[in-house]
Amino acid sequence: MQKNTFSFSRRGSSLALGATALLGLAAIAGCGGSGSSSSSGDSGSGLPVAKAAQAQVIRGRALVTTYGCVDCHSQGLNNPASPTWMAGYSSAAGPHGPGIFQIGPFATYAANLTPDATGIGTFTDRQIYNALKHGLDPGATPDAVITGETPGQGNFPAAPHYLAVPMPWPSTRNLSDDDLWSLVAYLKHGIKAVANTVPDSQGPPDFWASSYTADKVGPYPLPMYPTGSEQFAP
Ligand code: HEC
Repeated sequence: MQKNTFSFSRRGSSLALGATALLGLAAIAGCGGSGSSSSSGDSGSGLPVAKAAQAQVIRGRALVTTYGCVDCHSQGLNNPASPTWMAGYSSAAGPHGPGIFQIGPFATYAANLTPDATGIGTFTDRQIYNALKHGLDPGATPDAVITGETPGQGNFPAAPHYLAVPMPWPSTRNLSDDDLWSLVAYLKHGIKAVANTVPDSQGPPDFWASSYTADKVGPYPLPMYPTGSEQFAP
């Protein structure tokens, strides 16, 4: 297993095992950016310049507490008052287990989504948006506006480093931009930082690309309603 198992660094804290090709990516992962300021002045960001609106944060909270994020990122405990709210994997298992997943030969870990340096605190708002919209690992993907879905075009990385299974980004990408930015606002600007270092997920050399083909996770964008399996029957 060791031979085809890679521990890829998302924050430059560890090195890829036996794969020099991955070291370049690890270097990119070293510094995710400098907080929310880079999305300021980006009219497409949905976040107001300089600070997030409280309404966005409240909307993001509603989404987080209804869309099942807590099943993995808060050990199944849907309680924003919990001291480990959204802090990800912990060896001290919660109601739904610790937040570790065995995907074939790979162990993957639910990330710490609080704005701590051990969580998403070093990533920009845009990097978190790109994670939810395109499935791109914020620690290995530059802070850039992505205009297409084709690798190598429109700032989409030529060799995409996707988030590990079972992060359900093939579902979150179908949210409206308003909702996506509300999630970003809540995670980055609406909760307290919790220091919790989560181990790097393991994964295949293609960074899960072959797990996220349309035949496996469905098409994007979704086909128009109604498809052959749907009907409007008032
Ligand atoms: C079924 C489990 C599961 C659910 C449900 C889930 N996630 Fe995740 N998520 C993960 C795992 C596992 C990772 C780590 C992926 C990796 O290491 O590449 C992750 C990573 C992330 C990341 C990237 C963080 C980073 O530091 O790289 C973000 C952002 C994120 N999730 C947001 C969400 C949001 C928002 C929701 C709810 C809409 C959600 N997740 C629901 C399992 C889940």
